[in-house]
Amino acid sequence: METVSFPFAEWALLPETGTDWSISHDLHQPDSILVTGLSLRDASSVRFEQAWSCLSPDEVARAKRYLRDESRNDFVLCRAALRTLLGNWTRQPPSQLRFTYSAYGKPSLVPVEGVPTPRFSVSHSHGMATLAVTSGSHDSLGIDLERRRGDLDGLGLARRFFCPEEAAELAQLSGLTQRQAFFDCWTRKEAVIKALGEGLSCPLDSFKVSVSPGSACRIETLHPAAGPVSRWSLIQLAVGEEFSCSLAIEHPQPRIVCCQFQWDPVD
Ligand SMILES: CC(C)(COP(=O)(O)OP(=O)(O)OC[C@H]1O[C@@H](n2cnc3c(N)ncnc32)[C@H](O)[C@@H]1OP(=O)(O)O)[C@@H](O)C(=O)NCCC(=O)NCCS
Repeated sequence: METVSFPFAEWALLPETGTDWSISHDLHQPDSILVTGLSLRDASSVRFEQAWSCLSPDEVARAKRYLRDESRNDFVLCRAALRTLLGNWTRQPPSQLRFTYSAYGKPSLVPVEGVPTPRFSVSHSHGMATLAVTSGSHDSLGIDLERRRGDLDGLGLARRFFCPEEAAELAQLSGLTQRQAFFDCWTRKEAVIKALGEGLSCPLDSFKVSVSPGSACRIETLHPAAGPVSRWSLIQLAVGEEFSCSLAIEHPQPRIVCCQFQWDPVD
């Protein structure tokens, strides 16, 4: 799959969908995946108040358990953004939506009567968030975003946790190219794990993704329970120099639609 260009700096220039998802027929096609994103660090105090007020009691309790203010604020805004997006998608007030969680913590939306239940995935990292939603009923999807930090020993982590072949490909690169390839590879693997929903119980070396900057972004091997690799797509979202972002979906030919995030909820 090709890289999809989705630069943070140009988010404001992306097309707006408006909040009337019922007229955005295109987005509700089973092969369409809406990808949007937002900065979590420039919200006004009014926005924070609105964000807190749409959370469920268990989400408020979880938010209060964060020790660092920044992490708490990122969680609150990201969850409120997810509720806003899914509320607009299903034409429900964001605060009325309910989530259930798998044994590994993957959230899904409790079905809303008369509306196909959207699948979604979110990721937040260092004050930025990305959200992906699809109406495709069978499609597992996962999105992952990571800041390309300079203080991590990427090659050391790859040798410890990735497949030996992936680590060997990274070892052939150096400097900033190696750092970018490491974080691209990390987000590709995390996106697959999030799509599978298995969390950290899925070892990072149990499947292989492409690594070399010049090669197509794809899953190369996957454990048999996840189905044939040909059913899956892996997409690198080019969001700028500072972050890596990848999307994995169990669909052979997804159509990615990048849109501006809209805060206006239906309620
Ligand atoms: C649970 C996990 C998905 C979290 O990933 P993460 O990169 O820390 O965090 P992200 O912001 O990308 O994703 C978090 C979101 O994933 C979703 N999520 C949680 N558990 C999930 C699961 N089992 N499957 C899919 N999605 C899940 C939630 O929506 C969560 O949002 P929330 O925290 O606001 O509730 C898990 O894969 C993890 O902890 N990974 C880190 C592994 C790691 O450190 N690898 C090092 C590689 S060198």
